[in-house]
Amino acid sequence: MTNPFRFGSVVTREYFTNRENEIKEIVSEIKAGQHIVLMSPRRYGKTSLIDEAMKVSQMKWIRINMELISDEVDLANYYVKKALSLSRFEKIKRYLKNLKIQPYIQIQPITNEISVSFTAEEKNISTLLSDSFQLPETIAKNMKNKIVIVFDEFQEIRRISSMLERKMRGIFQYHQNIIYVFIGSQESMIREIFQNKKNPFYKFGRHITLHKIAEPKFSSFVVKRFFSQKIDARKIVKDILKFTDCHPYYTQQLCHEIYILNEKKTLTKEIINKAVSQIATEHHADYSRWWNGLTNTQRKVIIGIASDNYSPTSQEFIRKYGIKSASTSGSVVSKLIAIGTLVKKNGEKIRIEDPFWKEWILKNRR
Ligand SMILES: Nc1ncnc2c1ncn2[C@@H]1O[C@H](COP(=O)(O)OP(=O)(O)O)[C@@H](O)[C@H]1O
Ligand SMILES: [Mg+2]
Repeated sequence: MTNPFRFGSVVTREYFTNRENEIKEIVSEIKAGQHIVLMSPRRYGKTSLIDEAMKVSQMKWIRINMELISDEVDLANYYVKKALSLSRFEKIKRYLKNLKIQPYIQIQPITNEISVSFTAEEKNISTLLSDSFQLPETIAKNMKNKIVIVFDEFQEIRRISSMLERKMRGIFQYHQNIIYVFIGSQESMIREIFQNKKNPFYKFGRHITLHKIAEPKFSSFVVKRFFSQKIDARKIVKDILKFTDCHPYYTQQLCHEIYILNEKKTLTKEIINKAVSQIATEHHADYSRWWNGLTNTQRKVIIGIASDNYSPTSQEFIRKYGIKSASTSGSVVSKLIAIGTLVKKNGEKIRIEDPFWKEWILKNRR
């Protein structure tokens, strides 16, 4: 009686579906020594995909989650710790000798887990970073094995420090034994970092855009997972995927809730509404916080998009929702797309990113 659906963290094995082509592509690029930039909105499954691809590749790899890094010294600590975790215990001392600034090292005798802490003065930070970024290459050369380094949520680099991009690029470009994978969730920022000629990482890696999971494949995944618990979802799977628009995270979230609430062996449509409203209730605190963080005009635009099919810059829209002008509406929409509240896919209508939040808004206004 375990819930056959999971959401929130990285998914693997039976909780992970499809992506065969993406895995194949990523593995073959990496094996060819090609750096990669993997891009998609949040929660499409980038981290899960890279985990799977790394498993398939059987290469040594580390992941640096840039979201968790506070500043440059923190990055150096984390980087060195992760790099050392790849090498054999007996060799660690030798690698440490090469560092110009010596860290304080603690080793857990049972797990062999290492913690690294540098205490660096401002004037030393540049040296510290150079040494840290160089370490994996030294280790890889020594092991006579290539290493993959995955930077997750790489756009966060700009929050950590403005000099990091140049520093990294300057060192990475000479590495013969490391393949770099950059994962990014904020498309505009990732494009700026990798596609603007003025920036150090211009054209550093091959771009791969991750899309949602195709409907037929996702549909058979959903049916199969319910079926593993002897539940027949065939009648409603289309409606589930219509509600979530095949979004990997929201689909798993909805199915997870349906599984909890359902009492029958064959699912019927009512259960979808029940699950949606249950999720909206559970997340009331978050949803109202998001709502209260919006300006008045942003609220008007969001209400309009949630309720109507008009384009937000049309006369009908701005009249009906009391917005000053089409250009005001347009710039609010751009801002909300940039921060991920709204999404726009090529040729499609602009939508609210979180379908449960949308329902919460509509419900509260009824
Ligand atoms: N291939 C997949 N099959 C099924 N569910 C997936 C898949 N990829 C992602 N998901 C769902 O989406 C959620 C977010 O995945 P994650 O890898 O954290 O996305 P990202 O790194 O893009 O933010 C997972 O917890 C899971 O519920
Ligand atoms: Mg991720």
